[in-house]
Amino acid sequence: MSTTSQKNLGAQSGAFSLGGNLSVHRLGFGSMQLTGEGVWGESKDHAGAIAVLRRTIELGVTLIDTADSYGPEVAERLIAEALYPYPSDLLIATKAGLMRPGPGQWVTNGKPEHLRSALEGSLKRLKLDRIGLYQLHRIDAKVPLADQIGTLVELQKQGKIQHIGLSEVSVDQIKAVQKITPIVSVQNLYNLSKRTAEDVLEYCTKHQLGFIPWFPLATGDLAKPGGPLARAAERLKAAPAEIALAWLLHKSPVMLPIPGTSSIAHLESNMRAAALQLDSATIRELELGAKAA
Ligand SMILES: NC(=O)c1ccc[n+]([C@@H]2O[C@H](COP(=O)([O-])OP(=O)(O)OC[C@H]3O[C@@H](n4cnc5c(N)ncnc54)[C@H](OP(=O)(O)O)[C@@H]3O)[C@@H](O)[C@H]2O)c1
Repeated sequence: MSTTSQKNLGAQSGAFSLGGNLSVHRLGFGSMQLTGEGVWGESKDHAGAIAVLRRTIELGVTLIDTADSYGPEVAERLIAEALYPYPSDLLIATKAGLMRPGPGQWVTNGKPEHLRSALEGSLKRLKLDRIGLYQLHRIDAKVPLADQIGTLVELQKQGKIQHIGLSEVSVDQIKAVQKITPIVSVQNLYNLSKRTAEDVLEYCTKHQLGFIPWFPLATGDLAKPGGPLARAAERLKAAPAEIALAWLLHKSPVMLPIPGTSSIAHLESNMRAAALQLDSATIRELELGAKAA
């Protein structure tokens, strides 16, 4: 593929406007895999992680997802090291609300003082004056919702946040937050084999909220030889991960997948999903196959 058509891959996935004024190419990149084992500590391959991030831009990615808790701090630092000064069309979407006592451990903290200091840390590491999309990683059941969202609104009024997003929420929680402030996106677990967030996706589609499916490639058994993804992949001469991403992109115009990888070859393969058209028979076969699995 020529450099020009590679650059077009991001654009080929289509565009979505967050909040009506922040446009991104729909197929983005998730930075969590660039940290150490258990999303803890430094990358095993620092130069490789920097190269992957730089390649995302060459391939037309304009949405990179991260969080203060990835590493912690490691993913945000890598993004700044690889990409600052940033291209003008790049949106770095970060998150706050989870603390990291150790590898593989995640503790919710939605206290206002924590959210305020988390934002200051992200601004500093990312070398930004304002975060384009700031996502509450989890709603903290121990802290009043109005205090958590109110803190984000206060930071937004100070000009430190452009748009607010949520993560791992139900439709009722989205509605409760929308009574306090507008939001532009929701990031929930969703992929061909795990579709418990279907009602949230439908709500986002209806209300023009970006839906950012995490773990978009968790295709498990479906990608095994003879499984529906493997069969479609063989027929279309693509990788199973490409089919999984093409299916997501087809599913809704508000879908913004953020596949993560530490491998340039996997990144390039994932981005090819933007150019892959699935016909209705393939989509039916994938969905029936996923249901049967
Ligand atoms: N909001 C939340 O609570 C939450 C939770 C988890 C993740 N996230 C976000 O979502 C992003 C994506 O989620 P994720 O990283 O958990 O899952 P994912 O993107 O679905 O899968 C990543 C895994 O798939 C492998 N992979 C990537 N491309 C591949 C390919 N073409 N072929 C074969 N294997 C491939 C990666 O390994 P290699 O490195 O070897 O390619 C890695 O093990 C994260 O980076 C993070 O930004 C958010």
